[in-house]
Amino acid sequence: MNNKDLLGRVALITGAGAGIGRETALQMAARGATVCVNDLKEELVAPVVEDIRSRGGQAAAIVQNIASREGIRAAIQASFAHGKRFDILVNNAAWVRYQAIPEIMSETVERMLDVGFKSVIWSLQEAVAVMDPQCGGSIVNVASVAAMRSAANSVVYSGIKSGILGITRAAAAELGARNIRVNAVCPSAVPTEGTQRNRNAERDANRIARTPLGRLGTVEDIARSICFLASDEAGFLTAQSLVVDGGITFTNI
Ligand SMILES: NC(=O)c1ccc[n+]([C@@H]2O[C@H](COP(=O)([O-])OP(=O)(O)OC[C@H]3O[C@@H](n4cnc5c(N)ncnc54)[C@H](O)[C@@H]3O)[C@@H](O)[C@H]2O)c1
Repeated sequence: MNNKDLLGRVALITGAGAGIGRETALQMAARGATVCVNDLKEELVAPVVEDIRSRGGQAAAIVQNIASREGIRAAIQASFAHGKRFDILVNNAAWVRYQAIPEIMSETVERMLDVGFKSVIWSLQEAVAVMDPQCGGSIVNVASVAAMRSAANSVVYSGIKSGILGITRAAAAELGARNIRVNAVCPSAVPTEGTQRNRNAERDANRIARTPLGRLGTVEDIARSICFLASDEAGFLTAQSLVVDGGITFTNI
């Protein structure tokens, strides 16, 4: 692999102020992309932009709530305005709550759908408008193994992530003719700011015991797969759901 294989590309990563999104921003910048780092607040975005620049990379801060049609459009337009082109979109941002069926609240459902589902739909409209049909583009949607293997208290989360796989395939069918590839990654549980509240030592040990590769995944593992799907190395891949999980989802050990 050419380690600057994303040189000249402009990428937007939503929710890149923490966790998987932040690590993806760092890795894409290291591979040469100009990375537009999106999150809700300046204090989340600024350290990531600074980090990238201090390593000699190119980055721009895109402070924007992407939970509305206008919000995700503005984030993509600002990225295009910054880079004068738009090649890679990573729909990573999510707002997640796990609730038992009787306790599911409409506010929770609305917010989870706005951030993690509807924004992906609206992002496609805007990405298509700014991606150059000559150069094409790559969209990576961050789904989850919860799209395939569900646990209790995750009706809304599993539903949304399953829907993301459907959106990925349908968009791939529609956008292939424009040279735009659309893929998804499905991570298993990896330690991030967002998953801290749902983790404990016993749960981690149980997961590790059921994982053929014998460890939890890391943000680095997931980011590498996102970068792969975004890059030309994955040039004949579209409509795929890449399960990055150490083998836990499809095995029984
Ligand atoms: N970490 C895991 O175990 C895991 C497993 C499977 C899938 N995923 C998926 O990976 C993605 C990233 O997860 P994570 O654990 O890194 O999350 P995280 O909570 O650590 O980070 C998510 C970031 O998104 C930002 N964000 C939330 N709402 C936003 C909005 N409206 N506009 C802009 N930014 C917003 C947050 O401020 C935060 O910085 C999510 O889609 C998640 O569902 C994570």
